[in-house]
Amino acid sequence: MGVISQKIDKHRLDKQLKELAIIGYHPEKGRTRLPYTNEEREAVNIVKGYMEEAGLEVYFDQFGNLFGKLEGSNPGASVVMTGSHIDTVINGGAYDGTVGALSAIESLRIINESKIPHTHTLKAAVFVSEEAARFGGGTLGSKAFVGDYTRTDLDRLKDLNGVTLAQALEQWGFDPDQLDTVKGDPSKIKCFIELHIEQSINLETNKIPIGVVDQIAAPTYLRLYIKGKAGHAGATPMDLRTDAFMAGAEIALAIEKIAKTIGKETVGTVGEVFVKPNAINVIPGEVILGVDIRDVTSERKDLAVEKLKDVIEKTRENRKVDIIIDEIARQEPVKTAKQIVNTIRETCEELEIAFMNVTSGAYHDALNMAKITDIGMIFVPSVNGISHAPEEFTAIEDIHKGAQVLAETLLKLAQ
Ligand code: GLV
Ligand code: MN
Ligand code: MN
Repeated sequence: MGVISQKIDKHRLDKQLKELAIIGYHPEKGRTRLPYTNEEREAVNIVKGYMEEAGLEVYFDQFGNLFGKLEGSNPGASVVMTGSHIDTVINGGAYDGTVGALSAIESLRIINESKIPHTHTLKAAVFVSEEAARFGGGTLGSKAFVGDYTRTDLDRLKDLNGVTLAQALEQWGFDPDQLDTVKGDPSKIKCFIELHIEQSINLETNKIPIGVVDQIAAPTYLRLYIKGKAGHAGATPMDLRTDAFMAGAEIALAIEKIAKTIGKETVGTVGEVFVKPNAINVIPGEVILGVDIRDVTSERKDLAVEKLKDVIEKTRENRKVDIIIDEIARQEPVKTAKQIVNTIRETCEELEIAFMNVTSGAYHDALNMAKITDIGMIFVPSVNGISHAPEEFTAIEDIHKGAQVLAETLLKLAQ
């Protein structure tokens, strides 16, 4: 034990993180690598180079997911998978996703170079478009991999400019009609392990370098299309208005209240607000709200959505606005697999790296992978718990420890 972890190259990881950090970078705004844009593509191509350098057999599926394979001594044995994503939110950080994708490649590289025999094939995956930053819902690549999309969905899902997911795939040179070929065969996959930054404060507060994830919260995404009546902001008396924004504001405040009353792990966010016509002297005629509600239990999450729908009903009546509710995504929370959790814990003990149990409030590609295989997640600390913001930071020493635990865990599972 420890042969592989000693060889994990902290400096290479640091260098690669810095190389990716400048793709889509703006000095005041962090980096923006939205799903299926040139920025995500540029980053994917760089990572493809890292996989090739690592001696992996590299290929894309027809959804744009990138894979690097290291064949085991029994090619018929189920595959041990690892990986994450390298796209970002708008004005995001340099660590979310990227840490897990690069550590996956580094782990396979060291296992390959060390020539340690392993029965199971290992595969590093860089899932495309994990962030819900363009087509409404997130984790697009891993959703396709677990067979969650139909061909019709690819025409139905549109970004705010009306570009469909199918068109975005075509622009990247992939064929949406080959969606069926993207699906992974569950009987051929042994497990999926994802390393990720914690994006919260538990590890930092407790001064513990490794989090072993027990459960992952999941979101329901709603877009609310609120229609009132545009009008003159000076000449229209207050009692003659049908202000779409005031209706939206009422709903937004209700979301905060609902989340706070249901439970500690219930969270509700209105992260998207579009006001039309968005002029200081015009009463807003239309508003679109993007709503993100999450929890680690489906019961509480569904209850929050039900309560929200009651509020929407009342607002519709009281304010005489039209409101259309579009459910963009609805995912179920998952628990990580006990035996994988135990393997990660055992590895930490052997490496003498302190660890603790943590729950993931963020979702990950692992959430989808749980539908077809056993999953595990390893977290490393986020400074001040900040993520989805340019200030996101994780020390390279912590990333190094995470990659060491990942590599040794993968090797154990593959032997
Ligand atoms: C994924 O990044 C999420 O929003 O949890
Ligand atoms: Mn994210
Ligand atoms: Mn992420």
